[in-house]
Amino acid sequence: MSTATIPTPTAGRCDARPATALRPLSAVSGAEIQAPLIQGGQVRYANLDYGASAPALSVVSAYLNEILPFYASVHRGAGYASQLSTSVYENARNIVRRFVGGRDDDAVIFTRNTTDSLNLLAGCLPAADGSPAGEVLYLDIEHHANLLPWQNVPHRSVVAAPTLAGTVERLRAELAGGGVSLLAVTGASNVTGEILPIRELAALAHEFGARIVVDAAQLAPHRRIDLTVDDVDYLAFSGHKLYAPFGAGVLVGRPDWLDAGTPHLAGGGAVRDARLDSVSWTTGPARHEGGSPNVLGAAALARATQVLEALDEQEWHAHEDAIRSYLVQGLQELDGVSVHHIFEETARGEGPGTIGVVNFSVAGYDAGLVAAYLSAEHGVGLRDGRFCAHPLLKRLGLPAGSLRASFGLGSRIEDAERLLAGLRDLRRQGLGWDYVVDAGRWVPANDTRSYPHWAPNTPGTAGAAPCTVE
Ligand SMILES: Cc1ncc(COP(=O)(O)O)c(C=O)c1O
Repeated sequence: MSTATIPTPTAGRCDARPATALRPLSAVSGAEIQAPLIQGGQVRYANLDYGASAPALSVVSAYLNEILPFYASVHRGAGYASQLSTSVYENARNIVRRFVGGRDDDAVIFTRNTTDSLNLLAGCLPAADGSPAGEVLYLDIEHHANLLPWQNVPHRSVVAAPTLAGTVERLRAELAGGGVSLLAVTGASNVTGEILPIRELAALAHEFGARIVVDAAQLAPHRRIDLTVDDVDYLAFSGHKLYAPFGAGVLVGRPDWLDAGTPHLAGGGAVRDARLDSVSWTTGPARHEGGSPNVLGAAALARATQVLEALDEQEWHAHEDAIRSYLVQGLQELDGVSVHHIFEETARGEGPGTIGVVNFSVAGYDAGLVAAYLSAEHGVGLRDGRFCAHPLLKRLGLPAGSLRASFGLGSRIEDAERLLAGLRDLRRQGLGWDYVVDAGRWVPANDTRSYPHWAPNTPGTAGAAPCTVE
C-alpha cells in the first residue's frame, strides 16, 4: 500500500482556504438539501459521493421537464410526439459522438450504464472460424465492470507496477507476446482517482495489433476525451456519474465488431426480419438496443455532455483541483489518517494527474464505521468499502476496505472542510454516539430521526452491504 505524502499545488496549511471553489461551478439539484443529525438538528448535506452517482445538473433537469410532455415511443410511431421523441433520441447520439470526439462512423449505442456497455462489447469480440480471435488484457486495478465481463471470454490480467511507467512496460511485454485482441483499461481509477495515459496505451495496443476500450465511467465526468486524437477504439461511460442520473449509459466505438457481434438484447427493434424459429439481425446501434429504449435517459445524458463541453476547461480543472488539494492536505495533517494511491508518480505530483476522488483510511476505525459516523453526526456523505475493485483493494493492503471522498461541479471547498472537521472531531473526541452493525452495515443505534414519507426504510437498514469480506 502506498501512503506517501502527495504534494499539493496549493501551498500552506489547509486552514488557508483557497480562493477558488468557494461555490459550486455548476448548479446541481439537491445542492442545499438538509440532512438530519443523530444528536438532533440538521445541516446542509455535504455530498462527497459524486464518484458513485453525481447529482443531476439543474440544466439537465430543466431540459427533461421541457421535453417530458412530448415524450412518446420512438422509431415506429407516426404521431407528432413520437417524431419529436425520435428526433431527440437519435440526435442524442450525435451530441454524445461529438462530446467524445468520435469518428463519423463510430457507433453510439445507448445502454443502461458502463457495466452494460462493457458486457455488450464482450459479446462482440471477433472470432475466427468460430473461435475467439484473441484474448482480452486488463490490469488488476479495474472496477469489476471492466474485469468480470472479460472473465467469460479468453483473457489475461497484469498486476499494475508500483509506477505508471512500469505498468505501461508490463502491458507492453504482455502485448508483445501476441494473441491479445483487446486492451481493456480504466481512464481513471474509481478507487484513487489516478488518471491513466490512455493515448499512450492506445498507441501501445495498436502497435501490437490489439484494440483498446477505455472504461471512462470516472474519467468522462472530469476530463475531455477525444477518441479521434487519442486513437481509442471504444469508450464506455454512465449518465448517472455524468450529472444525468436517468438510467442511460453509452458505448461509443468502431462499428465493425459491433455490427457482427451478438445482439446485446434480443427483441423488438434489433431485427431486419424475424421468423418463428430464426431471425436476421439488423446492424447499427439498433442491433444492440432491443426493446423500448430509455429515450429520456439518453436525452439527459446528451444534454449533460453539452454542459461539460461548454465549460471553460481551465476553470473546471482548477475548481476540482482546488478541492482535491485542500482535502488531501487536510487529511495528511490529521493524525492516523492515511491517503492511498496506486502509482508512485502521484506521490511526486507527476503523471497524467488525478480526478476528484480521494481515498483514505482512519487508523483504529473500520471504514464503514467512519462513514456512518460522518453521515449521522456531520451530515457528510461519502463511500466506504472495496469500491467494486476487490483485487486492487487486496493488493493495496486494504482487504477490509477504505473511504472515498469524491466531488465535482456542484461541490465546494466547504464540503471538504466539513469532512475534515468531522475527522478532526473523531480523532479528538471519538464517536459521539453508539453504532451497531445491521444487515452488514454500521448504523447509529436507536436512530429515531424521521425521514420523508417516500423513503420509508431507515437508511442503513434499507439494503444489506452488497460485498462482504470472505
Ligand atoms: C471506473 C468505473 N467503471 C465502471 C463502473 C460501473 O459503472 P455503472 O455502475 O454505472 O455501470 C464504475 C462505477 O462505479 C466505475 O467507477
